[in-house]
Amino acid sequence: MSTKIKFAVIGAGRIGKRHASMVKLNKDAELVAIVDTDESLKEELEKEFNVPFFTSSEALYKAGIEMDVVNICTPNYLHAPQAIEALQHKCHVVVEKPMALTKVDAEKVIHYSLQVNKRVFCVMQNRYSPPSRWLKEVVGSNLLGEIYMVNINCFWNRDDDYYKGGDPNYWKGKLEKDGGTLFTQFSHFLDTMYWLFGDIKNIKASFYDFNHQKTTEFEDSGIVQFDFVNGGAGSLNYSTAVYDQNMESSISIVGEKGAVKVGGQYMNEIVYCHIKGYQMPELEETLPPNDYGKYKGSAANHQFVIQNVVDTLINDKTVTTNSLEGLKVVEIIENIYKEK
Ligand SMILES: NC(=O)c1ccc[n+]([C@@H]2O[C@H](COP(=O)([O-])OP(=O)(O)OC[C@H]3O[C@@H](n4cnc5c(N)ncnc54)[C@H](O)[C@@H]3O)[C@@H](O)[C@H]2O)c1
Repeated sequence: MSTKIKFAVIGAGRIGKRHASMVKLNKDAELVAIVDTDESLKEELEKEFNVPFFTSSEALYKAGIEMDVVNICTPNYLHAPQAIEALQHKCHVVVEKPMALTKVDAEKVIHYSLQVNKRVFCVMQNRYSPPSRWLKEVVGSNLLGEIYMVNINCFWNRDDDYYKGGDPNYWKGKLEKDGGTLFTQFSHFLDTMYWLFGDIKNIKASFYDFNHQKTTEFEDSGIVQFDFVNGGAGSLNYSTAVYDQNMESSISIVGEKGAVKVGGQYMNEIVYCHIKGYQMPELEETLPPNDYGKYKGSAANHQFVIQNVVDTLINDKTVTTNSLEGLKVVEIIENIYKEK
């Protein structure tokens, strides 16, 4: 009997196709179906992936195809309801970021996953990048001592083309469907922050819309200040209003026994490391970011996400980003946006 884990992908846009390709490349995984409401994708997708195509999740579940895992790669507002639908059909779920647009919806997903005892894998693939793994080790082993300050800067470009000129039928840029810049562009970096330092409190924030009045229903920039529950102060400055291209995604940490900065365009290079009695090791090279033509996203590490699903389901390993952590990032974003 085949022990391959069977995956279906729902939502075959920019990132859904990547999920399907990464499933295809994994020797312990099998792609069994693709779903997208855009019927015009059928021919191309069937040719590329050679699996049945459905135009709705209902049609997928009705077809009675055997599957273990459903990957939810649809617009943000559909993540929670489609994750719940997959759990109700007794499938494990891989859910693209953000896990949901509200803490209440993320809790509902967890509630259903516990009822049917199926796993929820949240996609936060930046955790696999060598600089992130290195930071986790440095912070986790307390090499920096007490954490005094953490500063995150995310300065990207998302222009009219990205939001399809504000097309009323496109989900990106719409408050109800997208949720906002912190959900769609920068949740990876809030995940990194939470993963390293835990939750935040005493949030103060200011938001600005510099050049997206025609394309988004929300801010393009924000300045956020907070304290960590574990001690130390932090700030997050973010923008999608940067001219022409992404400029920087960085984290600077000032601790009792040292200071580090990971920067580059995608938190992909160690810019500064000076820690008491510590020699910086040679790190593996970071994979390039997801490339969507004109736009660059976060690290192209989705193969590790699929491998983690396989390892968890076949080899009883742990989920890299579990549903409680997915929920926590949603809650942090919600708490920041409460300052609007
Ligand atoms: N992890 C990452 O680095 C990363 C990168 C990009 C996008 N994402 C996330 O992936 C999700 C999709 O983003 P994208 O850039 O691929 O968007 P996209 O607009 O390119 O693709 C979304 C696809 O979902 C389809 N769709 C819409 N409603 C549907 C439904 N009810 N059922 C089935 N299909 C439906 C659309 O037709 C479209 O093809 C978003 O939540 C986004 O935040 C994550």
